[in-house]
Amino acid sequence: MVARMAAGSSIYDYPEVYASLLAVAPDEYVQIRTLLELHGVQPKSVLDPACGPGGWLVPFHDDGCRVAGNDLRQEMVEASRRRVPDGEFTIGDMTQLQMSTGPFDLAVNLSSSVGHLADDVAVARHLDSVRRHLVPGGAYLLEFSSPTHKRTRPRAIWSSRKVPVGGGGHAKVSYRSVHTDPDERVERISLELKTWGVETAPSRLVESYNLRTFPESVVQDLAAAAGFSVEELVRTEDDLLALLRR
Ligand SMILES: C[S@@+](CC[C@H](N)C(=O)[O-])C[C@H]1O[C@@H](n2cnc3c(N)ncnc32)[C@H](O)[C@@H]1O
Repeated sequence: MVARMAAGSSIYDYPEVYASLLAVAPDEYVQIRTLLELHGVQPKSVLDPACGPGGWLVPFHDDGCRVAGNDLRQEMVEASRRRVPDGEFTIGDMTQLQMSTGPFDLAVNLSSSVGHLADDVAVARHLDSVRRHLVPGGAYLLEFSSPTHKRTRPRAIWSSRKVPVGGGGHAKVSYRSVHTDPDERVERISLELKTWGVETAPSRLVESYNLRTFPESVVQDLAAAAGFSVEELVRTEDDLLALLRR
């Protein structure tokens, strides 16, 4: 996984700020539900193995699903628990999930979180761990960073609006891709967070980290080795959204 940052040096250290900035928009959720429905996936139970503050679990829960989440960071898990008190949440590594309320109809892992894992061995362990938490025929929808060109000049990926933060104040974040190298399978990400009147967060934080990247062939091989079939791969410019089936 990514070299761990000292407490307070990552946007992940501020779950309420992250949750407000990276909230799942209603139309994003509808797009995901539409893709799932096209494949006959109508889940009653959903797992997010790197759930952060529960951004994707909240709308599934609002739709009547039983939900469960896991995250490496205690503060993220606590934020998820506050938002979905009747969900199951564990603190742990996504390569060694230990959920007690499974198996699940669906797992979701969006926002390229698997890119935080150290190598393909860890990704293989992660896929195996998720597969063991799914019902037979269960689906796993996950996103991979997957740039196809080497780029050495920074470019903007995404900027939020200045949004209100739960608990008071406002925040804004901008993400840039600093460098991509499909041969080295790494993307360097840089983000700048700014806050106004948020007591629990700094007024400015700049963070850089590496995300591992995944060409289509690697996704196909890892999925097959873990006992998944690849039902669909949706490519956007720099990402791959994979729908895997146990
Ligand atoms: C980009 S956020 C995504 C959160 C959520 N899935 C979403 O889409 O909003 C990535 C999350 O992965 C977590 N994470 C990173 N490495 C992890 C690991 N090895 N096991 C579990 N969680 C991990 C981080 O703590 C962070 O909360």
